[in-house]
Amino acid sequence: MISMSRSFIVANINDLVSKLQTEEKIALLSAPNWWNTTPIPRLEIPSIRCSDGPNGVRGSSHFASTPAQCLPCATSLASTFDVNLIRKVGEFLAAETKIKSSVILLAPTCNIQRSPLGGRAFESFSEDPYLSGIMASAYVNGLQSQGVSAAIKHFVGNDQEHERTAADSVMSDRALREVYLYPFMLAQKLAKPWAFMTSYGRIHGVHCSESPELLQDILRDEWGFKGIVVSDWYGTYGVDQPINAGLDLEMPGPTRWRTPTLVNHMLTAQKLSPSTLDERVRNILAYIQQQARLNPEVVYGDGKERTRDTPEIRKFCRALATQGVVLLQNRNMVLPLLPNRVHKLAIVGPNAKGSVISGGGSAALKASYIVTPYEGIQEGAFEELQISYAIGCYAHKYLPTLENHLKTPTGEPGWLATFYSHTKDGKLSPPIAKFVLNDTRVKLNDFIPEGLTEDWTLKMTGQLTVDKTVPFELGLTVAGRAKLWIDGELTIDNWTKQTPGDFFYGQGTIEEKAIVELEANKTVNVLVEYTNSYPPPDKNDKGNTVSNAQPALMRGLRLGGCEKINADAAIADAVELAETSDAVVFIGGLTPEWESEGFDRPSLELPGMQAELITKLAAVNPNTIVCIQAGSAISMPWKDDVAGILQTWYSGNEVGNAIADVLFGKANPCGRLPLTFPKRLEDIAAYPNLLSEHGKIHYREDIMVGYKHHMKHKIEPLFCFGHGLSYTTFKFLDCVIIRQAGTDIELSIQLQNTGSVAGSEVLQLYVAYPDKGITHPPLQLKSFAKVHDVAAGEIAIAKLELDKWSFSYWDEEKNQWKVDAGHYALHIGFSCEDIVCQSMIELETTLSWTGL
Ligand code: BGC
Repeated sequence: MISMSRSFIVANINDLVSKLQTEEKIALLSAPNWWNTTPIPRLEIPSIRCSDGPNGVRGSSHFASTPAQCLPCATSLASTFDVNLIRKVGEFLAAETKIKSSVILLAPTCNIQRSPLGGRAFESFSEDPYLSGIMASAYVNGLQSQGVSAAIKHFVGNDQEHERTAADSVMSDRALREVYLYPFMLAQKLAKPWAFMTSYGRIHGVHCSESPELLQDILRDEWGFKGIVVSDWYGTYGVDQPINAGLDLEMPGPTRWRTPTLVNHMLTAQKLSPSTLDERVRNILAYIQQQARLNPEVVYGDGKERTRDTPEIRKFCRALATQGVVLLQNRNMVLPLLPNRVHKLAIVGPNAKGSVISGGGSAALKASYIVTPYEGIQEGAFEELQISYAIGCYAHKYLPTLENHLKTPTGEPGWLATFYSHTKDGKLSPPIAKFVLNDTRVKLNDFIPEGLTEDWTLKMTGQLTVDKTVPFELGLTVAGRAKLWIDGELTIDNWTKQTPGDFFYGQGTIEEKAIVELEANKTVNVLVEYTNSYPPPDKNDKGNTVSNAQPALMRGLRLGGCEKINADAAIADAVELAETSDAVVFIGGLTPEWESEGFDRPSLELPGMQAELITKLAAVNPNTIVCIQAGSAISMPWKDDVAGILQTWYSGNEVGNAIADVLFGKANPCGRLPLTFPKRLEDIAAYPNLLSEHGKIHYREDIMVGYKHHMKHKIEPLFCFGHGLSYTTFKFLDCVIIRQAGTDIELSIQLQNTGSVAGSEVLQLYVAYPDKGITHPPLQLKSFAKVHDVAAGEIAIAKLELDKWSFSYWDEEKNQWKVDAGHYALHIGFSCEDIVCQSMIELETTLSWTGL
């Protein structure tokens, strides 16, 4: 960072604007790189840095990341239904942000799980707008209470990935207001995020980053937003329209649109007025000043990135991950696993020894440590338990990464990256820069060493050792071009001829594979040669190369590999183990490569032969427990065959300990589903309008999203919204309305822990609106409360609150919110289907309003 005095902190913003030259103003509205704002040293204006969330803080390099704590994904957080806990998550992430020398976290994501197949469903809280908004508010409040700015995203309608930069989310104004804008509106009402990030796509045919309706009319005028609006990365599509509409900052840099030439051109043509330019500049400066004032030690610090790791931090991450786990099914109380019933436990499944901690895309990060499920169970098991393991089947999309088997030529863990420029005659220069990487996913989008020529080469070298003599399958995926040599022999050519795949947000190839024979403990030399350049078109090339027509935004490569196994034999081994064990814990699901930003999942099915394997395990062992790692719903054709099912989501680096704590009853599960698990693809509310058609995504389900659709059309879900079991039981005792002043209502609910262990319970209040000739969902979540650690036999009291929003809908005729006078039914329960109490209230007055 440039060292400068702190005079900017107390500078008068109007004064500064008057001193800025036009060129400097333009520079402030874009960025010099992927993560920083533009500094203006002449006026002592510092640069501030942002970093990606939401489930941790990656820092400013995909290439050589500084490890961070990985927290559970948003669906896991929402499953806690615990506002105070999510506020603590925000506080925790603020500290993580600051040690990455950043003062802005690009989070939370509060788009809606219109479909569980959405690539970023794991990153968003819920299908329910109220739950999403409350969770987002708590997260933002926690973060901003520590001076770190949220950049709540993606405003609005980025609910699927298919054609995400182009698609128009076609929906009614009611759906827009009541479902998709609602979480953002609640967050603005309850937490006032200091930054909003626009989404890639369009609403009403206009890209969100250039929509005056969204950015000026709704966000600023109606909701009173005072912060900055930043584009999603490469989500700015013009010069004057976005600036006029209210987009303050184009990200990332270097700019594509806000060059002096283009902006001056717009000023001269009077498509852009100097006063609008100044308004955007004032916003940015006020924002940078606020962040510098709140965090001088970061903004004027050394710019370095650091990792925190203490026992308290580990304890927090572990407890948090545990709280999100949802016990979906527990036949014959198969769980918790207790010493009097289980002596031999079989652990099976593709994810048991894997490091599945988050979904993929910009939310993924390099964790400072990972406790795998296998390690957590080994560590957490009671002493007498005998544990055996069989993989059962693979379920990876790309072969597992290889860093744990690699050493650099000088013996350090990982492999060595050496960059070379290209000389005029196409030869390689002497090495320009070298880095040791402990990851075989090499992302080059936000980092390239200085001094390279336009076309350059990267050589990745390492020594690979495995501990078994096996046929070993290797896979090379690339955005750019690459070849793999093993012991000097060309093994994979993903250079000469390429097949497009969905690697790297759809800008790379498929995984090209080859099998080599490896001997136990005999090291082989690995060399991957990569180039960002493309050879001149070959007249024999039938166009089967990954398109380079567009300047590619993503550059990188990925090397994977694992033992080539015989699928039938692997299943047979696992079944044999299950047969001779007292219980089986299967750990599987998805991975960041199946569920990721950049593409949507094609189906609800578990990948690979997992479903078949689970059925076979259950057939030989009645105590089969399935733990699913996935950020949203998957189908479970084997549901009735197995005894126990845990939805563990992606629970961050403490995943193994969290699973073990629940399996062995050290923690009593208390998560509740924040989204409906459908039985079949066809039952999803958005089906069949899941993808963009001719540039439009038709939100034909309108306001009936998730459980509202299932209830309206009487479609039985696999597991309903709000569902989750416990190792104890709660009985509803009483509900009293303790206060009613118009729409402001407070209820007190008594419930008793009628089981034998302490536990927590979530009370959910759903409102049914009167029939006044307007269609409403049968039930809508409008309040919830959690009682914590209630001892066996004890009575607890939960308070539920309602206000005018609890009875409101968007009046499309008048373009305002409305509450109809009439009788409303309040359904209180333990899920949307398990309603334990109903009470009617009457609202005597009709209300309407705009704004918050
Ligand atoms: C994502 C954003 C993210 C940004 C920066 C984009 O691809 O949509 O959520 O914050 O990249 O990584």
